[in-house]
Amino acid sequence: AARYVDDLIEPANGLFAAVIRSPIARGTITRMDLEPVRKSPGVVCVLTVDDVPGHTDIGPVFPGDPLMTSTEVKFFGQCLAVVAATSELAARRAAQAAILEFNREDALLDAREAVASQQLVRPSHIMAIGDVDHALASSHQVLEAVQEVGGQEHFYLEGQVSLAMPTEDGGMLVYSSTQHPSEVQKLVAEVLALPLNRVTVDMRRMGGGFGGKESQAAQWACLAALLASKTGRAVKLRLPRQDDMIMTGKRHPFANAYRIGIDEAGRVTAADIEVIGNCGNSPDLSDAIVDRAMFHADNAYFLGNARIAGHRAFSNQVSHTAYRGFGGPQGMMIIERAMDDIARAVGKDPLDIRKLNLYGTEQSEPERTLTPYHQTVEFNYLPQLIEQLETSSDYRARRVAIRQYNQHSPILKRGLALTPVKFGISFTLQHLNQAGALIHIYTDGSIQVNHGGTEMGQGLHTKVGQIVAQTLGVELERIVVTATRTDKVPNTSPTAASSGTDLNGKAAQNAALTLRQRLVEFLAAEKTVSPEAIRFENGRVSWGGSEDMSFAELVQAAYVGRVSLSATGYYRTPKIWYDRTNARGRPFFYFALGAAVSEVVVDTLTGEYRVTRVDILHDVGRSINPAIDRGQIEGGFIQGMGWLTTEELVWHADGRLLSNNPATYKIPAIGDTPPVFNVALFEHENDEATVYNSKAVGEPPFMLAISVWSALRDAISSLSDYRLSPDLDTPATPERVLKAVMAVQAQCAQNGMTGGAV
Ligand code: MTE
Ligand code: MOS
Repeated sequence: AARYVDDLIEPANGLFAAVIRSPIARGTITRMDLEPVRKSPGVVCVLTVDDVPGHTDIGPVFPGDPLMTSTEVKFFGQCLAVVAATSELAARRAAQAAILEFNREDALLDAREAVASQQLVRPSHIMAIGDVDHALASSHQVLEAVQEVGGQEHFYLEGQVSLAMPTEDGGMLVYSSTQHPSEVQKLVAEVLALPLNRVTVDMRRMGGGFGGKESQAAQWACLAALLASKTGRAVKLRLPRQDDMIMTGKRHPFANAYRIGIDEAGRVTAADIEVIGNCGNSPDLSDAIVDRAMFHADNAYFLGNARIAGHRAFSNQVSHTAYRGFGGPQGMMIIERAMDDIARAVGKDPLDIRKLNLYGTEQSEPERTLTPYHQTVEFNYLPQLIEQLETSSDYRARRVAIRQYNQHSPILKRGLALTPVKFGISFTLQHLNQAGALIHIYTDGSIQVNHGGTEMGQGLHTKVGQIVAQTLGVELERIVVTATRTDKVPNTSPTAASSGTDLNGKAAQNAALTLRQRLVEFLAAEKTVSPEAIRFENGRVSWGGSEDMSFAELVQAAYVGRVSLSATGYYRTPKIWYDRTNARGRPFFYFALGAAVSEVVVDTLTGEYRVTRVDILHDVGRSINPAIDRGQIEGGFIQGMGWLTTEELVWHADGRLLSNNPATYKIPAIGDTPPVFNVALFEHENDEATVYNSKAVGEPPFMLAISVWSALRDAISSLSDYRLSPDLDTPATPERVLKAVMAVQAQCAQNGMTGGAV
């Protein structure tokens, strides 16, 4: 059974922490009386920012994230103080007792308004290629639209939690549910004014992270460590679900717009795209997240002349953060919307418009392979992949059947869409693309593997274990992948950007190769055979001829022969570089590809709908573990579907988050899984030299869910006989779908068009 931080046996005399949070979104604190908190039963310690010995700002890249505030409040739920008590309930009750008074100000929540008044958390950035204005002016037709894209709550099943234990000489051991143990280590050290070598972070596994524990697990670890350091006792801080939803950042809502020029056939000749990320009150990771939205505003399509502007809007919301796709999904939405709009404008099937606009391949149309950030798209198998999916999903026949169905069905309308994904793999911040591993072989032949990546349910440890087992020719059962710890493998990158296996798998493979080499050299000398003759297979070692021995026997002999049975491994991604000032380079080692066909049925009287069938063909290169990869594809797709359909974040005008629990925030449940859900892996190994020529799979399938949204628009468009392209902001809740239905019907009536089901 998997153990999480909250399952650890609690240390003697341990305390429990609760956070005192701001009930307003913007203003200044005029009174913060914590005496009633101190006097509450069971309370041992109450701390404010004045009690912090070291850094008070825990911004992960740029400053802007105060650990606690006693002056200015920038968002609802901001941490003001923290209390430790003898039980969790006592701590939470005490936190309620604080007497707080504020000078309130109006909250800024709208991203477009923020950009208009230049209230940004980071400077704007532009990527450009060609002459957009000229190309737009000389294009056959110019289309334009605005598109609002909603945010998303991570809803990891295990919430944010940390357990801090003081160690000798003022040091600290922190168990934290984090995707980034090294950053937690650094921030705890800075807050406590300790050198990094006094702080150890241990991370066995997370019950889900999804990006929400990349930077934003650190605050709870720092607060627990601060309380532990002041009291000399172990302190656990686990956010109750409602606090977790209120106090931690979400997927960035985006406000997007495009102006696109096309030729008569519907091919894009120019694209002027603007994406605005609502970043909340601080930079957090938003520079990179909005960059990734920009990097994916082309998705799979050659835009020719393009200008992509990205803005980082300030708002009085919690600071929005990493979430599966890291801005990529929000960027892709604008161009996928455009593809459908173009299809309606020129009267073609959206699939034909998408195919017409795909990046070229080296064999055909190599002149159509340059991205707006000047990276050449290589090994583009999308045309082939889409062709294959079009056939296996029976797209054309279903298209005909759906058109017929819609003509004869006055209320229920069906929709169909195929959308592709091309997702860039690598951290766009170059130095993060490195990893380390540490392997110990014990004298009984059992093996411990440790690496810098964290397990969050994505199966990373299983894959890394497999890689080591394969390299040493032993059974997987012989290997234990231990908890990620900053004192075993130091200075690690977050497990993010889908690169966990690419980076840590290679580092572990390198460590295993070192050990294997030592064992080979030892055995070759012992048996006076050539190293090439030595084989490691199924837990046995042979050296030509009929003799062999078990792996454990060899290890025992090597130990007696004084061979080191412990080794580190290291890896850094080759080929990548990016010059952000000039917005050009090769930020991505390679692209992960995929496509999905979704079919929906919409009730035009109520706006309710169902996803009836989904077919996915996804490229994971040469799969290291098909079961895990399939799980990632299915899970990613369903999570993406939730983002675009039912998961609605609602903020009150005063800045309070109203959708702060599962009763008011609807994630997909098992019953929302499409009844027909065909998932297949595209058989093609990665052309780049990744570990076993596999491809990253964690995030890319998330964006396959755009096909659901596109299918909804298709169903609504049928009301105009596919002439109008409806606005449909996301999440496309039944309310929004109904609004879109009514808007199309009204427009049809106004233009005297037939087709409406009024
Ligand atoms: N799968 C599960 N079950 N739980 C998670 O938290 N996080 C996703 C993805 N798949 C996640 C998941 C995100 S946001 C990323 S970046 C990758 O896993 C990280 O792991 P990887 O790099 O090993 O794929
Ligand atoms: Mo994933 S959003 O890169 O943690």
